[in-house]
Amino acid sequence: MKTNYLIIANWKLNPQTTVEAKKIFTGIKKVSTKLKNVSTVICVPYVYLSDLKKLASKKCILGVQDIAVPTEGAHTGLVSASMVKKFGVTYTIVGHSEVRARGENDATVRAKVTTAVTNGLVPVICVGEQARDTQGFFWHTIKEQVITAIGNLPRKSLEQIVIAYEPVWAIGKDAPRPATPAECFEVVLFIRKVISDIFSPADAHNVQVLYGGSVTPKDALGFIEHGGVDGYLVGHESLLPKHFDTILINTENYANTQKTKTIKK
Ligand code: PGA
Repeated sequence: MKTNYLIIANWKLNPQTTVEAKKIFTGIKKVSTKLKNVSTVICVPYVYLSDLKKLASKKCILGVQDIAVPTEGAHTGLVSASMVKKFGVTYTIVGHSEVRARGENDATVRAKVTTAVTNGLVPVICVGEQARDTQGFFWHTIKEQVITAIGNLPRKSLEQIVIAYEPVWAIGKDAPRPATPAECFEVVLFIRKVISDIFSPADAHNVQVLYGGSVTPKDALGFIEHGGVDGYLVGHESLLPKHFDTILINTENYANTQKTKTIKK
């Protein structure tokens, strides 16, 4: 039973000002600093890194939402892993469906994963189907995404990656519904099986797998309790410190109850 959870905020193209960014970050940090069983990462727009660097801590870690494959040179508009590292960034989301929708393919995701790992960043690799077809083709999509993203990594690098299962149909405020914990559970098992086939069962067990897609304070815990994940990737609710803090606190409390149970056994 794992009792160390990882909760990642994905602010996307928000908020609109530095003042707001600092306010939200501080609101989250107040709670995240007190937690023993939960690590909090906040993936922010690049323009806020300089200001948020001063506020970040070991318990409220800075992340970004994407990085470039190349690390320098004539690449207009890109930002590299080594550049963001100078601001204390430790995590980067890679392969988010909103980036894939702008043309990114599995091969580019693989290249970004390699760049992240080589430069000492933890890639949070997003995988997930557009829709659940009744013939089950979506399993193939997820398998391909996982194999292409991590299949060529040295085994040791698995300690330094996170996978986020994000069904595209469940993402965003307008999504009809989040996945159910049961739907999440079967995909998480499948992802671990794919990892196990490439590496080993122990590696598959150890890789942190998160759920993302309309996570709210009300439903978050269900994904850990019954969905087999080690945490969440939270979009719109992470811009509301009160909501996000409730997710953090509920997860911390859950981890404590699990620890007590383990000790009693
Ligand atoms: P959401 O976004 O929580 O707003 O659905 C999650 C994500 O896209 O990472």
